[in-house]
Amino acid sequence: MNGCNCKCKNMDNNETAREFEAVCKILDENNYDKDRLIPILQSVQAVYRYLPEDVISLVASSLGLSPARVYGVATFYSHFTLQPKGKYVIKVCDGTACHVKGSMNIYEAMRKKLSLPEGKNTTSDLMFTLETVSCLGACGLAPVIVVNEEVYGQMTPERGKNLIDKITDTEATGEKKHN
Ligand code: FES
Repeated sequence: MNGCNCKCKNMDNNETAREFEAVCKILDENNYDKDRLIPILQSVQAVYRYLPEDVISLVASSLGLSPARVYGVATFYSHFTLQPKGKYVIKVCDGTACHVKGSMNIYEAMRKKLSLPEGKNTTSDLMFTLETVSCLGACGLAPVIVVNEEVYGQMTPERGKNLIDKITDTEATGEKKHN
């Protein structure tokens, strides 16, 4: 850690330090090693579900890198996102096998259920993000959707809408799992 800028260590404003506590912990665990930028960004994204601008600046200055360099890495890898995403990221597969089995009907039904306006794919309460993806490698189960890491096969528009209800209910009752 010696010789680094260690912004986290030098924060005089307690409130700011508290706000960025998770980031500072991640930087600490990675020994402020700029060669570990990618795992650091992965851990930060796991906390915030995206890479906020002020966090990118903090990571950059703490590692002694320019913000442009960190932005460059964050935008190069499709895994990283600079936009806030929902707690539940729903990916509707629109690869060939899923498409011919009506994946877009599922997508449209779920969009409607979530009341997503044109041009938006994340609900304003940051609970859901709805996206399309190319083949998820589970064509035998087509049409397929993935919610976070969980795969759902042989989906229908109805099942898609029910799944949203189920997750919403689970969240309302404070349970962790939705199965
Ligand atoms: S096309 Fe959807 S899983 Fe392959």
